[in-house]
Amino acid sequence: MYMSTDEVRNAYLKFFESKGHQIVDSSSLVPHNDPTLLFTNAGMNQFKDCFLGLEKRAYTRATTAQRCVRAGGKHNDLENVGFTARHHTFFEMLGNFSFGDYFKDDAISYAWEFLTEILKLPKERLLVTVYQTDDEAFDIWNKKIGIPAERIVRIGDKEGGKAYESDNFWQMGDTGPCGPCTEIFYDHGDHIWGGPPGSAEEDGDRFIEIWNNVFMQFNRHADGTMEPLPQPSVDTGMGIERISAIMQGVHSNYEIDVFQTLIKAAAEVTGCDDLSNQSLRVIADHIRSCSFLIVDGVMPSNEGRGYVLRRIIRRAVRHGNKVGAQGAFFHKLVGVLAEVMGSAGQELKRQQAVVEKVLRIEEENFGRTLERGMAILNDALDNLDGKVLDGETVFKLYDTYGFPADLTNDVARERDFSIDEVGFEKAMEEQRQRAREAGQFGTDYNAAIKTEAQTEFCGYAGTEGESAVVAMFVEGQEVDALSAGDKAILILDQTPFYAESGGQCGDAGVINTESGLFKVEDTQKLGNAIAHHGELTEGVMAKGDKANALVNAARRAAITLNHSATHLLHAALRKVLGEHVTQKGSLVKAENLRFDFSHLEGVTAAELKEVERMVNAEVRRNHSIETNIMDIESAKQKGAMALFGEKYDEQVRVLSMGDFSTELCGGVHASSTGDIGLFKITSESGIAAGIRRIEAVTGEAALDYLDGQAAKAELKLDEAAVKAKALEKEIAQLKDKLAAAASAKLTDKVQEINGVKVLVAKLDGADNKALRGMVDDLKNQMGSGVIMLGNVSEGKVGLIAGVTKDLIGKVKAGDLVNLVAQQVGGKGGGRPDMAQAGGTDAAALPQALDSVVPWLTEQL
Ligand code: ALA
Repeated sequence: MYMSTDEVRNAYLKFFESKGHQIVDSSSLVPHNDPTLLFTNAGMNQFKDCFLGLEKRAYTRATTAQRCVRAGGKHNDLENVGFTARHHTFFEMLGNFSFGDYFKDDAISYAWEFLTEILKLPKERLLVTVYQTDDEAFDIWNKKIGIPAERIVRIGDKEGGKAYESDNFWQMGDTGPCGPCTEIFYDHGDHIWGGPPGSAEEDGDRFIEIWNNVFMQFNRHADGTMEPLPQPSVDTGMGIERISAIMQGVHSNYEIDVFQTLIKAAAEVTGCDDLSNQSLRVIADHIRSCSFLIVDGVMPSNEGRGYVLRRIIRRAVRHGNKVGAQGAFFHKLVGVLAEVMGSAGQELKRQQAVVEKVLRIEEENFGRTLERGMAILNDALDNLDGKVLDGETVFKLYDTYGFPADLTNDVARERDFSIDEVGFEKAMEEQRQRAREAGQFGTDYNAAIKTEAQTEFCGYAGTEGESAVVAMFVEGQEVDALSAGDKAILILDQTPFYAESGGQCGDAGVINTESGLFKVEDTQKLGNAIAHHGELTEGVMAKGDKANALVNAARRAAITLNHSATHLLHAALRKVLGEHVTQKGSLVKAENLRFDFSHLEGVTAAELKEVERMVNAEVRRNHSIETNIMDIESAKQKGAMALFGEKYDEQVRVLSMGDFSTELCGGVHASSTGDIGLFKITSESGIAAGIRRIEAVTGEAALDYLDGQAAKAELKLDEAAVKAKALEKEIAQLKDKLAAAASAKLTDKVQEINGVKVLVAKLDGADNKALRGMVDDLKNQMGSGVIMLGNVSEGKVGLIAGVTKDLIGKVKAGDLVNLVAQQVGGKGGGRPDMAQAGGTDAAALPQALDSVVPWLTEQL
């Protein structure tokens, strides 16, 4: 029974729909929110979170025809395309899925029913594999379905591999859902060499795997651990090209309807009439991945997914060139593809024009260097000693001629050579290093560019505009098209981007076309044109393309505030410092403004303050900022400040802010002075004899500046407090030292009364707070004894008495200190071993102390 590929797809989806499955659209080739995957490589990708139990959907059974790309990443078939009958960069995977619904039993029964009853494949041509230890699956096949045991092959882990490294254990990648699987094979007949799976001849082409049924049971983590899934699930995958081959009675996938149509079309556009030529197969395969990648938003570039796409396109172009294609041919296959994909080609049909254009520009760009590169490569291979092409040559081909390393490898392999990949990587790394050291954006070439192009500036009123690309330059040369990664100058017929002039810096932003994204880093005048300097970061762009130009509006707004404030500053300086002040230079950026002016002496702090206050007062008056176009004479009559020596057109733009400022100006401004919010001078300095420079900030930047200043002041206060603490500590330590020294001296004065050591002393100017420490020291030195110290500091008397513990039965420190205190106009008390008191009569102290010895003589 013959079935077209489109019919197979529909039959499959319909069958599973009849078994309660929701038909779900294929997801994008660019995996959504899954950084672990380069491209969608299996039907289950879009359901990953359903398997993990992280996402619930309205259905627990689904079926899809999923577009997949296996070029780069874990499942990479790029190198094999064209060399085998069944490897593709792009293919469609038919799949049915159960999220915790049915499991092994139903999955196997459905697969069998579809193959034998819907597709009516002869049962005796089918055989199956199961994972070594999966007795359950074995029994279902054997007992329920009735496949004889000798046609059920158990496949274990690979020899020398890790656990679960097996053809019958499927893993999405190094992490993610995985589980044992059962695979269904089709026997293409004994006229083809090969043996069943697991046999020594399994690599032959006779027994072909057509359907993989995975019993999802685990989530594999990065450290290799297997966590059981919340509910066992089912994920199946059947390459539509393989099953179509069977339904169309052919052996190789390239013989099915879709590929035959594409191969014929490829033959036509390349002019090759040998339909069996391998290059035609490569082209037929590659047009599928390239077209659908672009449909899903991937654009050729020098990085990541974009570079994989670029490599595939260039590989196709090389194969076209090999079979004699003249000029760009690849893009001409897009229409044929959209048609032949049937129900899977509808989105491609909608985007056909863009896809064609992206491909055409890529091939044209590469076409320019291809022949020269091929000549160099063939030359190098002709003269090679040995079998390995050195990394330097591979790198030169990459760097100068745009040959991806795998393309060079391809050509080398056809001639039985290989390439030094390690050497190539090393040369690449050296180049990256050089690029890093050289910095990135050089504009030196631009000086030489001349252009007749004219650009109308439409950015006074807004930051967005529709226009068309009229010219582009790369490294000083005019080009017709750009591809991703090109650093270029872009010229539009009209643009909202302001080109640097009159002190106002150029705008930044993005320019979008249908097929590319250009990031504008700076805008400069170029003759009568406005030149957007930047890089095409995505896609392609061609002369004549319609473009949407979008200025970075926040940056522009900050610039306009600074520009309007500059006018206010200019006027205020003339009012505060005098009419001799004239502008000598100005730079208005998003971050701040800089204004240079003539003035002989330094501006005093008071003058600066006055200027600042005056500008802020005009901000608060909120003048509307008006522009009027008039002839130069009327402008001068109006009192507009014009810069001496500056050339003005007949018609000039006069900018006025109330009665405060009137100036000729071509720049872009705020709509009223109030927009400035706040004006703050950040520095004033002399830059040359008689020329001063003021720098200032406005708006949000002024607030940031003030916050920064406040934070700095706070920091200073904190630092001062820390310093004061340290000083205090140092003083206390010095005092202690002094006290220790003083007490050391005092021990000379110790006398003995009735066998007890007694020290009575008068101090002068000691710190009263230090007395306690002093008595402690003395007690330690004396071991046992009675101490009475009197001190006069700043006219006040400080008294302290100390009695070592062994003596407190005989004399109490409190009594002793009171004895003295009474005589100097004070009173005190404390513990028996240490007591303190104060007094006011310093003159009476010597006498009072004299009374201590007689008193003690009685006590002891
Ligand atoms: N996800 C399984 C595979 O890709 C079905 O083989």
